[in-house]
Amino acid sequence: MKWKIRQEQTGDEAVIAEVTRAAFAGKAYANGDEDTLPAKLRDGGALILSLVAVTGKTVIGHVALSPAKVGDAKWLAVGPVSVVPDHQGRGIGSALVNHAVTVAQAYGRGGVVLEGDPAFYGRLGFVQSNALTHQGKPSRHLQTIAFDGDAAGDVEFHPVFSE
Ligand SMILES: CC(C)(COP(=O)(O)OP(=O)(O)OC[C@H]1O[C@@H](n2cnc3c(N)ncnc32)[C@H](O)[C@@H]1OP(=O)(O)O)[C@@H](O)C(=O)NCCC(=O)NCCS
Repeated sequence: MKWKIRQEQTGDEAVIAEVTRAAFAGKAYANGDEDTLPAKLRDGGALILSLVAVTGKTVIGHVALSPAKVGDAKWLAVGPVSVVPDHQGRGIGSALVNHAVTVAQAYGRGGVVLEGDPAFYGRLGFVQSNALTHQGKPSRHLQTIAFDGDAAGDVEFHPVFSE
């Protein structure tokens, strides 16, 4: 099966929500509102990057970048990351994240940060740091790729992630 990655276009909004819903459906770690996050970021002017994976005209995956802070430094957050269940395990999720990280490097921010499973993101170059907290608490799920110096301090994601 051939697939490629492109930027979100007008008209993709509903299918991005559906792809996100399908990816997170039934996951023990899901909040149940992940499908609303891309639209909330978009509506808030915080969807800095929105990439979709497509096969033909069908959207099968998605990743977002939004503003974040690590300590006082401006960073970018990766997520949500979604691949529809039927197409998982084919390298699409890794490619979406790698593309997002590459674009993020061009933004002149300190790095990229996310909360996710170290088993998946560790393979993509993300590292955990004991110097990071979220809402004052350390978490093994907080992971970063620093572009400029070290990652240290409290991580602040866009407010839609904690609504
Ligand atoms: C996580 C996700 C985006 C990965 O997409 P994908 O296209 O399946 O990923 P890839 O094919 O590039 O990589 C698949 C590999 O990652 C592993 N993997 C996928 N999700 C994982 C997870 N949550 N934890 C650990 N490993 C994971 C798979 O087991 C597979 O390993 P293998 O190659 O050794 O078999 C996709 O599984 C998904 O949408 N999951 C539900 C939503 C989600 O959890 N999003 C991320 C939240 S932080």
